[in-house]
Amino acid sequence: MTKTTRSKRAYVETYGCQMNISDGELMEGVLTKDGFEIVKAPEDADVVLVNTCAIREHAEKRVLGRVAQLNGLKRERPELVIGVTGCMAQRMGETLFEQAPYVDLVMGPDGYRSLPKALKNLDKSNKEGLSHGHGPQLAVLALSLGENYQGLEQRRIDGGPTAWVPIQRGCNHRCTFCIVPYVRGPEKNRDPLDILNEVHDLVSKGVTEVTLLGQTVNSYTSMDRSFPSLLSEIAQVDGIQRVRFTSPHPRDVTPELIEVMATEPAVCEQLHLPAQSGNNRTLKRMLRRYSVEVLLEKIAMVRDGIPEVALSTDIIVAFPGETDDEFRDTLELMKAVRFDEVFTYKYSPRAGTPATRLPADQFIPAHDAQARLEELIEVTRGIQADINSRELGRVDEVLIERAGRYSGQVLGRTRRNKVVAFDGDLERVGCYTQVILETTTGATFAGTEIAQSTLLG
Ligand code: 5AD
Repeated sequence: MTKTTRSKRAYVETYGCQMNISDGELMEGVLTKDGFEIVKAPEDADVVLVNTCAIREHAEKRVLGRVAQLNGLKRERPELVIGVTGCMAQRMGETLFEQAPYVDLVMGPDGYRSLPKALKNLDKSNKEGLSHGHGPQLAVLALSLGENYQGLEQRRIDGGPTAWVPIQRGCNHRCTFCIVPYVRGPEKNRDPLDILNEVHDLVSKGVTEVTLLGQTVNSYTSMDRSFPSLLSEIAQVDGIQRVRFTSPHPRDVTPELIEVMATEPAVCEQLHLPAQSGNNRTLKRMLRRYSVEVLLEKIAMVRDGIPEVALSTDIIVAFPGETDDEFRDTLELMKAVRFDEVFTYKYSPRAGTPATRLPADQFIPAHDAQARLEELIEVTRGIQADINSRELGRVDEVLIERAGRYSGQVLGRTRRNKVVAFDGDLERVGCYTQVILETTTGATFAGTEIAQSTLLG
Protein backbone atom coordinates (compact mmCIF):
# COMPACT_ATOMS: atom_id res chain seq x y z
CA MET A 1 0.00 0.00 0.00
CA THR A 2 1.24 3.48 -0.71
CA LYS A 3 1.57 5.99 2.04
CA THR A 4 -1.44 7.99 0.94
CA THR A 5 -3.91 5.08 0.95
CA ARG A 6 -2.85 3.04 3.97
CA SER A 7 -4.93 3.48 7.08
CA LYS A 8 -3.51 5.54 9.91
CA ARG A 9 -1.95 3.56 12.71
CA ALA A 10 -2.47 4.19 16.40
CA TYR A 11 -0.71 2.88 19.49
CA VAL A 12 -2.31 3.12 22.94
CA GLU A 13 -0.17 2.68 26.06
CA THR A 14 -2.09 2.43 29.33
CA TYR A 15 -1.01 3.06 32.92
CA GLY A 16 -3.01 2.64 36.12
CA CYS A 17 -6.13 0.83 37.23
CA GLN A 18 -8.43 -1.69 35.54
CA MET A 19 -10.83 1.11 34.63
CA ASN A 20 -8.01 2.75 32.73
CA ILE A 21 -7.16 -0.49 30.93
CA SER A 22 -10.80 -0.68 29.96
CA ASP A 23 -10.70 2.96 28.77
CA GLY A 24 -7.67 2.06 26.64
CA GLU A 25 -9.76 -0.66 24.99
CA LEU A 26 -12.57 1.84 24.49
CA MET A 27 -10.17 4.23 22.72
CA GLU A 28 -8.90 1.41 20.53
CA GLY A 29 -12.50 0.57 19.67
CA VAL A 30 -13.31 4.18 18.78
CA LEU A 31 -10.18 4.45 16.65
CA THR A 32 -10.75 1.12 14.88
CA LYS A 33 -14.27 2.22 13.98
CA ASP A 34 -12.79 5.39 12.55
CA GLY A 35 -10.51 3.39 10.24
CA PHE A 36 -7.33 3.31 12.31
CA GLU A 37 -5.20 0.23 12.52
CA ILE A 38 -4.11 -0.54 16.10
CA VAL A 39 -0.40 -1.37 16.35
CA LYS A 40 1.66 -2.81 19.19
CA ALA A 41 4.65 -0.47 19.18
CA PRO A 42 4.99 3.32 19.11
CA GLU A 43 7.62 3.01 16.36
CA ASP A 44 4.90 1.72 14.01
CA ALA A 45 2.32 4.38 14.82
CA ASP A 46 1.18 7.71 13.38
CA VAL A 47 -0.62 8.49 16.63
CA VAL A 48 0.63 7.53 20.09
CA LEU A 49 -1.75 7.88 23.02
CA VAL A 50 -0.42 7.58 26.56
CA ASN A 51 -3.39 6.78 28.78
CA THR A 52 -2.46 7.98 32.25
CA CYS A 53 -3.15 7.65 35.98
CA ALA A 54 -3.23 10.45 38.57
CA ILE A 55 -3.73 8.48 41.77
CA ARG A 56 -0.22 9.13 43.11
CA GLU A 57 2.58 11.48 42.19
CA HIS A 58 4.83 8.56 41.35
CA ALA A 59 2.46 7.44 38.58
CA GLU A 60 2.57 10.89 37.00
CA LYS A 61 6.35 11.19 37.13
CA ARG A 62 6.68 7.91 35.28
CA VAL A 63 4.40 9.12 32.51
CA LEU A 64 6.25 12.42 32.07
CA GLY A 65 9.45 10.45 31.62
CA ARG A 66 7.80 8.16 29.11
CA VAL A 67 6.35 11.02 27.07
CA ALA A 68 9.76 12.69 26.92
CA GLN A 69 11.14 9.40 25.62
CA LEU A 70 8.45 9.22 22.93
CA ASN A 71 9.48 12.69 21.83
CA GLY A 72 12.64 10.98 20.54
CA LEU A 73 10.44 9.32 17.89
CA LYS A 74 8.87 12.64 17.07
CA ARG A 75 12.26 14.19 16.39
CA GLU A 76 12.72 11.57 13.68
CA ARG A 77 9.12 11.88 12.44
CA PRO A 78 7.72 15.39 13.14
CA GLU A 79 4.28 14.34 11.86
CA LEU A 80 3.88 11.87 14.75
CA VAL A 81 0.96 12.88 16.98
CA ILE A 82 1.49 12.39 20.72
CA GLY A 83 -1.60 12.45 22.93
CA VAL A 84 -1.86 12.21 26.71
CA THR A 85 -5.25 10.91 27.84
CA GLY A 86 -6.89 9.84 31.09
CA CYS A 87 -6.76 11.08 34.67
CA MET A 88 -3.40 12.84 34.66
CA ALA A 89 -4.35 14.63 31.43
CA GLN A 90 -7.53 15.81 33.14
CA ARG A 91 -5.69 16.88 36.27
CA MET A 92 -2.89 18.78 34.57
CA GLY A 93 -4.87 20.13 31.63
CA GLU A 94 -3.07 22.64 29.46
CA THR A 95 -0.18 22.90 31.91
CA LEU A 96 0.95 19.62 30.35
CA PHE A 97 1.80 21.56 27.18
CA GLU A 98 4.16 23.73 29.24
CA GLN A 99 5.88 20.74 30.84
CA ALA A 100 5.94 18.70 27.64
CA PRO A 101 5.69 21.02 24.61
CA TYR A 102 5.89 18.11 22.20
CA VAL A 103 2.48 16.83 23.33
CA ASP A 104 -0.19 17.55 20.69
CA LEU A 105 -3.33 16.41 22.46
CA VAL A 106 -4.45 16.42 26.09
CA MET A 107 -7.74 14.57 26.62
CA GLY A 108 -9.55 13.74 29.85
CA PRO A 109 -11.57 10.56 30.57
CA ASP A 110 -14.86 12.01 29.28
CA GLY A 111 -13.49 13.04 25.87
CA TYR A 112 -12.99 9.74 24.05
CA ARG A 113 -16.11 10.01 21.92
CA SER A 114 -14.50 12.97 20.18
CA LEU A 115 -11.10 11.32 19.74
CA PRO A 116 -11.42 10.86 15.93
CA LYS A 117 -12.52 14.47 15.49
CA ALA A 118 -9.68 15.78 17.66
CA LEU A 119 -7.13 13.74 15.71
CA LYS A 120 -8.53 14.99 12.39
CA ASN A 121 -8.24 18.58 13.58
CA LEU A 122 -4.68 18.00 14.69
CA ASP A 123 -3.81 16.27 11.43
CA LYS A 124 -5.06 19.19 9.36
CA SER A 125 -3.47 21.80 11.54
CA ASN A 126 -0.21 19.88 11.68
CA LYS A 127 0.08 20.07 7.91
CA GLU A 128 -0.72 23.76 7.88
CA GLY A 129 1.43 24.42 10.88
CA LEU A 130 4.55 22.46 10.02
CA SER A 131 6.48 25.60 9.23
CA HIS A 132 5.79 26.87 12.76
CA GLY A 133 7.66 24.05 14.45
CA HIS A 134 5.17 22.28 16.71
CA GLY A 135 1.71 22.16 15.20
CA PRO A 136 -1.18 23.58 17.20
CA GLN A 137 -2.14 21.76 20.37
CA LEU A 138 -5.57 20.67 21.49
CA ALA A 139 -7.01 20.12 24.97
CA VAL A 140 -10.33 18.29 25.49
CA LEU A 141 -11.09 18.56 29.17
CA ALA A 142 -14.84 18.88 29.69
CA LEU A 143 -16.13 16.56 32.41
CA SER A 144 -19.64 15.38 31.82
CA LEU A 145 -22.55 14.63 34.15
CA GLY A 146 -23.80 11.95 31.80
CA GLU A 147 -21.00 10.48 29.70
CA ASN A 148 -21.04 6.74 30.24
CA TYR A 149 -20.08 5.89 26.66
CA GLN A 150 -23.46 4.39 25.94
CA GLY A 151 -23.46 3.01 22.41
CA LEU A 152 -19.66 2.81 22.31
CA GLU A 153 -19.41 -0.38 24.29
CA GLN A 154 -18.10 -2.38 21.36
CA ARG A 155 -14.64 -2.29 22.75
CA ARG A 156 -11.75 -3.83 20.96
CA ILE A 157 -10.87 -6.99 22.86
CA ASP A 158 -7.81 -9.11 22.41
CA GLY A 159 -9.67 -12.35 21.82
CA GLY A 160 -8.76 -13.84 25.20
CA PRO A 161 -11.22 -15.58 27.53
CA THR A 162 -11.50 -12.72 30.04
CA ALA A 163 -12.88 -9.20 29.63
CA TRP A 164 -13.41 -6.00 31.60
CA VAL A 165 -16.93 -4.61 31.57
CA PRO A 166 -17.25 -1.05 32.90
CA ILE A 167 -20.69 -0.56 34.42
CA GLN A 168 -20.07 2.77 36.13
CA ARG A 169 -17.77 5.76 35.70
CA GLY A 170 -16.84 8.51 38.14
CA CYS A 171 -17.41 8.63 41.89
CA ASN A 172 -19.81 10.35 44.30
CA HIS A 173 -17.64 9.82 47.37
CA ARG A 174 -15.21 12.44 48.62
CA CYS A 175 -12.50 10.43 50.35
CA THR A 176 -10.16 13.22 51.38
CA PHE A 177 -7.00 11.66 49.90
CA CYS A 178 -8.46 10.82 46.50
CA ILE A 179 -8.21 12.64 43.17
CA VAL A 180 -10.68 10.41 41.29
CA PRO A 181 -13.87 12.49 41.77
CA TYR A 182 -12.03 15.53 40.41
CA VAL A 183 -10.68 13.83 37.30
CA ARG A 184 -13.53 11.45 36.52
CA GLY A 185 -16.49 13.50 37.70
CA PRO A 186 -19.61 12.23 39.47
CA GLU A 187 -20.91 8.67 39.35
CA LYS A 188 -22.50 7.74 36.02
CA ASN A 189 -24.08 4.30 35.72
CA ARG A 190 -24.56 2.49 32.44
CA ASP A 191 -27.92 1.26 31.21
CA PRO A 192 -28.29 -2.35 32.45
CA LEU A 193 -29.64 -3.54 29.11
CA ASP A 194 -26.57 -2.17 27.34
CA ILE A 195 -24.38 -3.97 29.83
CA LEU A 196 -26.21 -7.24 29.33
CA ASN A 197 -26.01 -6.86 25.54
CA GLU A 198 -22.31 -6.33 25.83
CA VAL A 199 -21.90 -9.45 27.97
CA HIS A 200 -23.85 -11.51 25.40
CA ASP A 201 -21.66 -10.08 22.67
CA LEU A 202 -18.50 -10.94 24.62
CA VAL A 203 -19.71 -14.53 25.06
CA SER A 204 -20.21 -14.77 21.29
CA LYS A 205 -16.55 -13.75 20.92
CA GLY A 206 -15.33 -16.50 23.24
CA VAL A 207 -15.22 -14.67 26.57
CA THR A 208 -16.27 -16.77 29.58
CA GLU A 209 -15.04 -14.58 32.47
CA VAL A 210 -16.06 -10.96 32.98
CA THR A 211 -14.96 -8.45 35.61
CA LEU A 212 -17.46 -5.66 36.25
CA LEU A 213 -15.76 -2.33 36.82
CA GLY A 214 -16.69 0.81 38.69
CA GLN A 215 -15.03 3.19 41.13
CA THR A 216 -17.54 2.07 43.76
CA VAL A 217 -18.97 -0.72 41.67
CA ASN A 218 -21.45 -2.01 44.24
CA SER A 219 -23.21 1.34 44.56
CA TYR A 220 -24.37 0.83 40.96
CA THR A 221 -28.01 1.62 40.42
CA SER A 222 -29.86 2.22 37.17
CA MET A 223 -33.52 1.94 36.23
CA ASP A 224 -34.89 -0.79 38.49
CA ARG A 225 -31.54 -2.53 38.95
CA SER A 226 -29.40 -2.57 42.07
CA PHE A 227 -25.87 -3.93 41.93
CA PRO A 228 -26.86 -7.34 43.37
CA SER A 229 -29.66 -7.73 40.82
CA LEU A 230 -27.39 -6.78 37.90
CA LEU A 231 -24.69 -9.12 39.18
CA SER A 232 -27.10 -11.98 39.35
CA GLU A 233 -28.43 -11.34 35.83
CA ILE A 234 -24.92 -11.26 34.41
CA ALA A 235 -23.99 -14.42 36.28
CA GLN A 236 -26.91 -16.15 34.59
CA VAL A 237 -25.94 -15.23 31.03
CA ASP A 238 -25.47 -18.46 29.07
CA GLY A 239 -21.78 -19.12 28.49
CA ILE A 240 -20.54 -16.98 31.38
CA GLN A 241 -18.53 -19.21 33.74
CA ARG A 242 -17.03 -16.60 36.04
CA VAL A 243 -17.96 -13.12 37.20
CA ARG A 244 -15.79 -10.82 39.32
CA PHE A 245 -16.23 -7.15 40.20
CA THR A 246 -13.99 -4.35 41.45
CA SER A 247 -13.81 -2.19 43.50
CA PRO A 248 -16.67 -2.32 45.95
CA HIS A 249 -17.07 0.24 48.74
CA PRO A 250 -17.49 -1.39 52.17
CA ARG A 251 -20.60 0.73 52.86
CA ASP A 252 -22.49 -0.97 50.06
CA VAL A 253 -21.58 -4.53 50.98
CA THR A 254 -25.09 -5.64 51.88
CA PRO A 255 -26.78 -8.94 52.77
CA GLU A 256 -28.37 -8.85 49.28
CA LEU A 257 -24.94 -8.69 47.64
CA ILE A 258 -23.59 -11.49 49.79
CA GLU A 259 -26.65 -13.58 48.99
CA VAL A 260 -26.02 -13.24 45.24
CA MET A 261 -22.32 -14.03 45.69
CA ALA A 262 -23.19 -17.08 47.75
CA THR A 263 -25.88 -18.47 45.48
CA GLU A 264 -24.89 -17.64 41.90
CA PRO A 265 -22.47 -20.35 40.82
CA ALA A 266 -20.66 -18.06 38.36
CA VAL A 267 -19.81 -15.35 40.88
CA CYS A 268 -16.26 -16.05 42.06
CA GLU A 269 -15.31 -16.53 45.71
CA GLN A 270 -13.24 -13.37 45.75
CA LEU A 271 -13.72 -9.87 47.09
CA HIS A 272 -11.43 -6.85 46.94
CA LEU A 273 -12.55 -4.64 49.81
CA PRO A 274 -10.47 -1.46 50.24
CA ALA A 275 -10.09 -0.78 53.98
CA GLN A 276 -7.52 2.09 53.67
CA SER A 277 -6.86 2.13 57.44
CA GLY A 278 -7.52 0.15 60.60
CA ASN A 279 -8.03 3.20 62.81
CA ASN A 280 -11.34 4.96 63.35
CA ARG A 281 -9.98 8.49 63.71
CA THR A 282 -8.03 8.09 60.47
CA LEU A 283 -11.00 6.55 58.65
CA LYS A 284 -13.10 9.50 59.76
CA ARG A 285 -10.54 12.01 58.55
CA MET A 286 -10.29 10.11 55.28
CA LEU A 287 -14.09 10.44 55.03
CA ARG A 288 -14.44 6.73 54.39
CA ARG A 289 -17.86 6.61 56.03
CA TYR A 290 -17.42 3.36 57.99
CA SER A 291 -15.74 2.35 61.21
CA VAL A 292 -13.37 -0.55 61.83
CA GLU A 293 -16.20 -2.29 63.71
CA VAL A 294 -18.55 -2.00 60.74
CA LEU A 295 -15.84 -3.21 58.39
CA LEU A 296 -15.20 -6.25 60.58
CA GLU A 297 -18.92 -7.00 60.73
CA LYS A 298 -19.16 -6.86 56.94
CA ILE A 299 -16.16 -9.14 56.56
CA ALA A 300 -17.68 -11.60 59.04
CA MET A 301 -20.91 -11.52 57.04
CA VAL A 302 -19.03 -12.16 53.80
CA ARG A 303 -17.09 -15.07 55.29
CA ASP A 304 -20.22 -16.49 56.80
CA GLY A 305 -22.02 -16.44 53.44
CA ILE A 306 -19.05 -17.48 51.28
CA PRO A 307 -16.78 -19.58 53.51
CA GLU A 308 -14.07 -20.04 50.87
CA VAL A 309 -13.88 -16.36 49.92
CA ALA A 310 -10.43 -14.84 49.23
CA LEU A 311 -10.22 -11.26 50.44
CA SER A 312 -7.91 -8.48 49.30
CA THR A 313 -7.65 -4.85 50.29
CA ASP A 314 -5.94 -1.47 49.77
CA ILE A 315 -4.15 0.30 52.63
CA ILE A 316 -2.70 3.81 52.75
CA VAL A 317 -0.02 4.49 55.37
CA ALA A 318 1.09 7.90 56.67
CA PHE A 319 -2.12 9.76 55.93
CA PRO A 320 -1.49 13.29 57.35
CA GLY A 321 -1.88 13.22 61.11
CA GLU A 322 -1.69 9.41 61.42
CA THR A 323 0.12 8.68 64.68
CA ASP A 324 2.35 5.68 65.18
CA ASP A 325 -0.32 4.09 67.40
CA GLU A 326 -2.92 4.64 64.71
CA PHE A 327 -0.65 2.96 62.20
CA ARG A 328 -0.33 0.03 64.65
CA ASP A 329 -4.14 -0.25 64.57
CA THR A 330 -3.84 -0.90 60.84
CA LEU A 331 -1.32 -3.67 61.51
CA GLU A 332 -3.76 -5.13 64.07
CA LEU A 333 -6.52 -5.09 61.47
CA MET A 334 -4.26 -6.97 59.07
CA LYS A 335 -3.60 -9.63 61.71
CA ALA A 336 -7.26 -9.87 62.65
CA VAL A 337 -8.62 -10.19 59.11
CA ARG A 338 -5.74 -11.97 57.36
CA PHE A 339 -6.33 -10.74 53.83
CA ASP A 340 -5.13 -12.98 51.00
CA GLU A 341 -3.54 -9.96 49.33
CA VAL A 342 -2.89 -6.36 50.40
CA PHE A 343 -2.05 -3.50 48.04
CA THR A 344 -0.02 -1.03 50.06
CA TYR A 345 0.41 2.69 49.41
CA LYS A 346 2.23 5.59 50.98
CA TYR A 347 0.02 8.66 51.18
CA SER A 348 0.73 10.95 48.22
CA PRO A 349 -0.68 14.50 48.34
CA ARG A 350 -2.88 15.27 45.33
CA ALA A 351 -3.42 18.97 44.66
CA GLY A 352 -7.04 19.98 45.07
CA THR A 353 -8.02 17.15 47.42
CA PRO A 354 -9.18 18.05 50.96
CA ALA A 355 -6.35 16.24 52.76
CA THR A 356 -3.76 18.59 51.23
CA ARG A 357 -5.35 21.41 53.27
CA LEU A 358 -4.56 19.73 56.61
CA PRO A 359 -2.02 21.65 58.75
CA ALA A 360 1.49 21.37 57.33
CA ASP A 361 2.91 19.92 60.56
CA GLN A 362 0.63 16.89 60.18
CA PHE A 363 2.35 15.66 57.04
CA ILE A 364 4.47 12.62 57.89
CA PRO A 365 8.19 12.89 57.05
CA ALA A 366 9.15 10.73 54.07
CA HIS A 367 11.48 8.58 56.16
CA ASP A 368 8.75 7.67 58.68
CA ALA A 369 6.22 7.05 55.94
CA GLN A 370 8.67 4.69 54.23
CA ALA A 371 9.28 2.83 57.50
CA ARG A 372 5.52 2.34 58.01
CA LEU A 373 5.12 1.13 54.45
CA GLU A 374 7.93 -1.39 54.85
CA GLU A 375 6.53 -2.69 58.13
CA LEU A 376 3.08 -3.06 56.60
CA ILE A 377 4.51 -4.90 53.59
CA GLU A 378 6.45 -7.25 55.83
CA VAL A 379 3.42 -8.10 57.96
CA THR A 380 1.00 -8.52 55.05
CA ARG A 381 3.43 -10.54 52.90
CA GLY A 382 4.00 -12.83 55.85
CA ILE A 383 0.27 -13.40 56.26
CA GLN A 384 -0.14 -13.95 52.53
CA ALA A 385 2.69 -16.49 52.43
CA ASP A 386 1.22 -18.30 55.42
CA ILE A 387 -2.27 -18.45 53.88
CA ASN A 388 -0.91 -19.63 50.55
CA SER A 389 1.40 -22.26 51.99
CA ARG A 390 -1.60 -23.81 53.73
CA GLU A 391 -3.29 -24.13 50.35
CA LEU A 392 -0.62 -26.42 48.91
CA GLY A 393 -2.14 -29.73 47.93
CA ARG A 394 -5.45 -28.17 47.05
CA VAL A 395 -6.99 -28.95 43.67
CA ASP A 396 -8.54 -25.92 42.06
CA GLU A 397 -10.29 -25.03 38.83
CA VAL A 398 -8.02 -22.81 36.73
CA LEU A 399 -8.91 -20.82 33.64
CA ILE A 400 -5.88 -20.82 31.35
CA GLU A 401 -5.34 -17.18 30.37
CA ARG A 402 -1.92 -16.73 28.77
CA ALA A 403 1.66 -17.86 28.33
CA GLY A 404 3.77 -18.26 31.45
CA ARG A 405 7.26 -16.97 31.94
CA TYR A 406 8.92 -20.09 30.53
CA SER A 407 8.16 -21.75 27.23
CA GLY A 408 5.81 -24.68 27.61
CA GLN A 409 4.26 -23.01 30.64
CA VAL A 410 0.84 -21.38 30.92
CA LEU A 411 -0.68 -19.04 33.50
CA GLY A 412 -4.18 -18.99 34.83
CA ARG A 413 -6.23 -18.00 37.84
CA THR A 414 -8.39 -19.92 40.26
CA ARG A 415 -11.88 -18.73 41.11
CA ARG A 416 -10.34 -17.20 44.24
CA ASN A 417 -8.05 -15.13 41.99
CA LYS A 418 -4.84 -16.97 42.80
CA VAL A 419 -2.34 -17.04 39.94
CA VAL A 420 -1.06 -20.50 39.02
CA ALA A 421 1.69 -21.45 36.54
CA PHE A 422 1.90 -24.99 35.13
CA ASP A 423 3.09 -26.93 32.11
CA GLY A 424 0.61 -26.68 29.28
CA ASP A 425 0.10 -25.82 25.66
CA LEU A 426 -0.65 -22.22 24.69
CA GLU A 427 -3.36 -23.51 22.39
CA ARG A 428 -5.35 -24.27 25.50
CA VAL A 429 -5.79 -20.63 26.50
CA GLY A 430 -9.47 -20.32 27.30
CA CYS A 431 -9.80 -23.85 28.72
CA TYR A 432 -10.86 -24.62 32.27
CA THR A 433 -8.90 -27.36 33.95
CA GLN A 434 -8.10 -28.83 37.37
CA VAL A 435 -4.69 -28.05 38.84
CA ILE A 436 -3.04 -29.24 42.03
CA LEU A 437 -1.22 -26.40 43.81
CA GLU A 438 2.28 -27.68 44.58
CA THR A 439 4.60 -24.78 45.43
CA THR A 440 4.19 -21.10 46.21
CA THR A 441 6.43 -18.06 46.04
CA GLY A 442 4.22 -16.67 48.76
CA ALA A 443 2.15 -14.70 46.29
CA THR A 444 1.68 -17.04 43.31
CA PHE A 445 1.60 -20.79 42.76
CA ALA A 446 3.09 -23.46 40.55
CA GLY A 447 1.16 -26.65 40.03
CA THR A 448 0.32 -29.61 37.81
CA GLU A 449 -2.76 -30.23 35.77
CA ILE A 450 -4.54 -33.31 37.02
CA ALA A 451 -7.64 -33.72 34.92
CA GLN A 452 -8.46 -33.65 31.26
CA SER A 453 -9.43 -30.15 30.27
CA THR A 454 -12.75 -29.21 28.89
CA LEU A 455 -12.95 -26.57 26.22
CA LEU A 456 -15.60 -24.06 27.13
CA GLY A 457 -16.52 -21.07 25.09
N1 5AD B 1 -2.09 8.47 48.13
C1 5AD B 1 -1.83 7.15 48.27
N2 5AD B 1 -2.65 6.18 47.88
C2 5AD B 1 -3.82 6.54 47.33
N3 5AD B 1 -4.85 5.81 46.86
C3 5AD B 1 -5.79 6.65 46.40
N4 5AD B 1 -5.39 7.93 46.54
C4 5AD B 1 -4.17 7.89 47.14
C5 5AD B 1 -3.25 8.87 47.56
N5 5AD B 1 -3.50 10.18 47.44
C6 5AD B 1 -4.89 4.35 46.93
C7 5AD B 1 -6.13 3.87 47.70
C8 5AD B 1 -7.00 3.31 46.60
C9 5AD B 1 -5.95 2.79 45.65
C10 5AD B 1 -6.43 2.50 44.29
O1 5AD B 1 -5.00 3.83 45.63
O2 5AD B 1 -5.74 2.85 48.59
O3 5AD B 1 -7.88 2.31 47.06
